[in-house]
Amino acid sequence: MYTRVKTKKEIENLRKSGQILAGVMKGLGERLEEGVTGKELDEWATAEIVRNGAVASLIGYLNYPAALCISVNDAVVHGVPNDIPFKNGDLVGFDFCVTYEGMVTDCTRTFVVGGEEYASDEIKRLIKATKRSLDDAINAVKDGCSIGDISAAAQKPLDDAGFGVVRDLVGHGVGHKVHEEPEVPNYGVAGTGPKLKAGMTIAIEPMSTLGDWRVVMDPDGWTIRTRDGSLSAHFEDTILVTNDGAEILTRP
Ligand code: MF3
Ligand code: CO
Repeated sequence: MYTRVKTKKEIENLRKSGQILAGVMKGLGERLEEGVTGKELDEWATAEIVRNGAVASLIGYLNYPAALCISVNDAVVHGVPNDIPFKNGDLVGFDFCVTYEGMVTDCTRTFVVGGEEYASDEIKRLIKATKRSLDDAINAVKDGCSIGDISAAAQKPLDDAGFGVVRDLVGHGVGHKVHEEPEVPNYGVAGTGPKLKAGMTIAIEPMSTLGDWRVVMDPDGWTIRTRDGSLSAHFEDTILVTNDGAEILTRP
């Protein structure tokens, strides 16, 4: 299903969904520290989402077993929360969806456990370039833009910095379901691909690596890791296409 132009009421509910998600994401960032486990944070986030009158969309989605995807170090996406305590310097991505009154938003942030003082200069550069990739891609959005405009904008800062741009995983339409059409790749050529209209909502989610862009599936059947074991960062926001730009739904 191609993502639909949302009604006024649907947009209100998407805004609310995104604000609940942003609040939970902030809480996760505050709770992430050495010794804490992914399972503990998953339980906290699930309860917090429910407390806000919403649903943790990923529980049971394609049989996924948790509310959060927590992807650590060389894990790019879809890491399943586990009982291994985080360590200072771990690169941890939280990726999850919230459904409020039937409307879904999707967001990802990557944090360094203990704060960026535990990160190498390379990791700081990776995080900065991946945030820039997301911001530049969002700035390419407006009524009538093509998916290629967004893809090309996402690709450039990561290419310029010499980092890998993951190709096998893409952004997507979102709103009534977690994944809707169209796909939103993080590499491509401006002016190509399907077009967006004001009122549509998409998730833009560049994934980068310190090394090669190729990824492999972990034996657990969920976690997708870099093939070369290099570290990976991931940032994602759900945005509403407007007449002259984009409204970011998943930032406070
Ligand atoms: N936010 C994730 C994404 O866009 C959703 C993952 S669903 C899962 O890919 F079931 F695969 F975890
Ligand atoms: Co997504």
